[in-house]
Amino acid sequence: MKVVFALITAVAAFTAYYVYSPVPSTVSEPWKLMLVDATLRCAQDLSDLAHYFGLGHRLRILHFMTTLDKNDPVSSGNLKVTDTVFDGVEVRVFEPTSEPHGELKRSIVFVHGGGWVLASARARSYGSLCQKVSEDVNAVVVSIEYRFVPDVHFPTQLNDVLTATKYFLRPEVLQKYSVDPDRIAISGDSAGGNMAAAACQQLTEDPNQTIKLKLQALIYPVLQILDFNTPSYQQNTDMLIVPRLRMIKYWLDYLNVSLAFAYSMQVNNHTSLDSGETVALRERLNWNTLLPVSFKKNYKPVVQSIGNPSLVQKFPALLDTRVSPLIAPKETLQLLPKTYILTCEHDILRDDGIMYVKRLQEAGIDVTHDHYDDGFHGCVIFATWPTYSSVGARARDGYIKWLKENL
Ligand SMILES: *[C@@H]1O[C@H](CO)[C@@H](O)[C@H](O)[C@H]1NC(C)=O
Ligand SMILES: *[C@@H]1O[C@H](CO)[C@@H](O)[C@H](O)[C@H]1NC(C)=O
Ligand SMILES: *[C@@H]1O[C@H](CO)[C@@H](O)[C@H](O)[C@H]1NC(C)=O
Repeated sequence: MKVVFALITAVAAFTAYYVYSPVPSTVSEPWKLMLVDATLRCAQDLSDLAHYFGLGHRLRILHFMTTLDKNDPVSSGNLKVTDTVFDGVEVRVFEPTSEPHGELKRSIVFVHGGGWVLASARARSYGSLCQKVSEDVNAVVVSIEYRFVPDVHFPTQLNDVLTATKYFLRPEVLQKYSVDPDRIAISGDSAGGNMAAAACQQLTEDPNQTIKLKLQALIYPVLQILDFNTPSYQQNTDMLIVPRLRMIKYWLDYLNVSLAFAYSMQVNNHTSLDSGETVALRERLNWNTLLPVSFKKNYKPVVQSIGNPSLVQKFPALLDTRVSPLIAPKETLQLLPKTYILTCEHDILRDDGIMYVKRLQEAGIDVTHDHYDDGFHGCVIFATWPTYSSVGARARDGYIKWLKENL
């Protein structure tokens, strides 16, 4: 009896501490969201604890725990799945086998998300997404297994993505996979959307790159590090899955900067008015002009007059467009291919995506923007059992539909 009582108390305490969190009533299936978030927070706390006891680096342990669902490639009747290496970078390739022999296929280079540290191209979550995309679009999907923090930091992850993509875009490689060189897209979600957007800018501007990307498709991408007080950051500061402080810490780990700066960056002290370099870039992420009124709501910009300008001098990556594709000049944006951007209401990164939609449109790019009012960050990979969410399935299907119609 005592044991049962102790057990119930323990479960109740776990539930109260980890699982129950206030969630807006407009979010799709709040209980599932709480459970996914509880699992993630539990993994974070356990890896911090293990780090504290000297069992390994907290990020390596976290990476390990979030990739327990890794599996070997499994081919099926109409899909061949293989792990291979593109110019030194590991990739998982999904090839539909239904097409009559010799006919050229469409293709998507996919960069998975996870704050540059979590998840994997070999994980079941991203595997099911890539498999579904490959089957439904009847396209070859190349999912890049870039290296992770803390083994490598910016720009190594992005360079892995660029190296693998450039290798794939070689005529002889495309021929090997029976891919039509005129029908290739780059895509990614979250931190993967950040690298897909940055890689797309780099490849479009590269004069040596003769085979060009036809499309880019970005799923709730991370696009800037200069303003952590956009309306969506203010509205979702403590939102599940990716609250603001956790996002800032993912950024700092990616850039190999001390986490001690997170609090200063939360109040935009890294882009205060006394930090001259960032003032010039402000118009490119000025949400007062870039966001529609319906997203600005009643939020006020957070602009410090005196902050911590030494941060930008110490970490010049803060001003790098490969870190923040949103701040690229118009001349770069003008060259980009047709674009799809998916955003979710319950997501700190909503406005990163919406501002990019606006800046691309101003540069004359054809952009499709799908916004999900009941969506949350990460929902697209929660579209299969056991973490099925209806908004995730809708968002995934909308993304696939756009690819089918435009690629
Ligand atoms: C293009 O190729 C040339 C010759 O291989 C090289 O010198 C140059 O750096 C390349 N340019 C870019 C932007 O990679
Ligand atoms: C990251 O920063 C630490 C300490 O600041 C330094 O020792 C290490 O070499 C850096 N790692 C990389 C890959 O730059
Ligand atoms: C932001 O910068 C100001 C001026 O340097 C400083 O007084 C304040 O404590 C900083 N805020 C945080 C949270 O670091």
